[in-house]
Amino acid sequence: MRLRDLVEHAAERFESAGLHSALVDAELLAGHILGLNRGEVQAQMLVSASVSESQAQQITTLYGRRIAREPLQHITGTAYFRNLELSVGRGVFIPRPETEFVAQLAIHALKSAEQSEPIAVDLGTGSGAIALAIATEVSTARVFAVEKSPEALPFTKQNFAKYGANATLIQGDLADAFAELNGQVSVVASNPPYIPAAAIPRDVEVHLYDPDLALYGGDDGMDVIHLVSATAKRLLVEGGALIIEHADSQSVQVCQLLLADGWREVQAHQDLTGRDRAVTAIK
Ligand SMILES: C[S@@+](CC[C@H](N)C(=O)[O-])C[C@H]1O[C@@H](n2cnc3c(N)ncnc32)[C@H](O)[C@@H]1O
Repeated sequence: MRLRDLVEHAAERFESAGLHSALVDAELLAGHILGLNRGEVQAQMLVSASVSESQAQQITTLYGRRIAREPLQHITGTAYFRNLELSVGRGVFIPRPETEFVAQLAIHALKSAEQSEPIAVDLGTGSGAIALAIATEVSTARVFAVEKSPEALPFTKQNFAKYGANATLIQGDLADAFAELNGQVSVVASNPPYIPAAAIPRDVEVHLYDPDLALYGGDDGMDVIHLVSATAKRLLVEGGALIIEHADSQSVQVCQLLLADGWREVQAHQDLTGRDRAVTAIK
């Protein structure tokens, strides 16, 4: 069977099923079975390459899972985040592209820190995305991360084993984590759960596969953001920086919360698409 026919037919079915990136997903899933990256799949399609019956069957099985709205990253077991290839699956939040700019804000703050070996803390680390981006991109930093979910932890541990040479992971609640670091941390970053409890996300992949603990932040979505503010206040040195990701509708609310908690230089930041998605503040 021609690879091109297989992929293009799947892309049409994906599109009819309402998938956002139909052709990309079809190419990536074929590549997952064939051991090819997306560019290599496209090259094979261009030269009308064939796949064996067994390969076609395996690819078709993955296409069935994707049509049933299982996330691409769960099927392949991998999510890409900045320069990291992270292990993900059922039980852990899939890191999103918009969080890459939150990690960038943390990296920038850390590189500007006065301390020669600055400490960074990631609250609610999930797959370890923010913590491990910092750990791999700021070699002088010591990175600490906390995650509460026992279902997420196997993935987090695997990713820390791969990338976390200068990073420490603990399981626990961010509200009381790292008392031993009180007043010593240069940067605290967090992408907390911030969706209001009643605002169930429309995307099936999100509401069926991302863990509730990663998504929902109480009635107004702000419960965990309150905790992050309090914990960061406790951990940071004077002049240390806090970076929080939030929903695009929550910028004013988060700024007000931080001002009420006594933070200074509270500043809203836009992602690459121009939406308010993060707030930074200084202790
Ligand atoms: C939106 S996810 C973000 C994960 C990761 N930082 C990222 O950006 O991909 C929020 C994470 O916080 C964790 N979490 C929620 N409440 C927590 C708490 N009280 N203490 C520690 N972790 C918590 C969730 O389990 C989830 O992994």
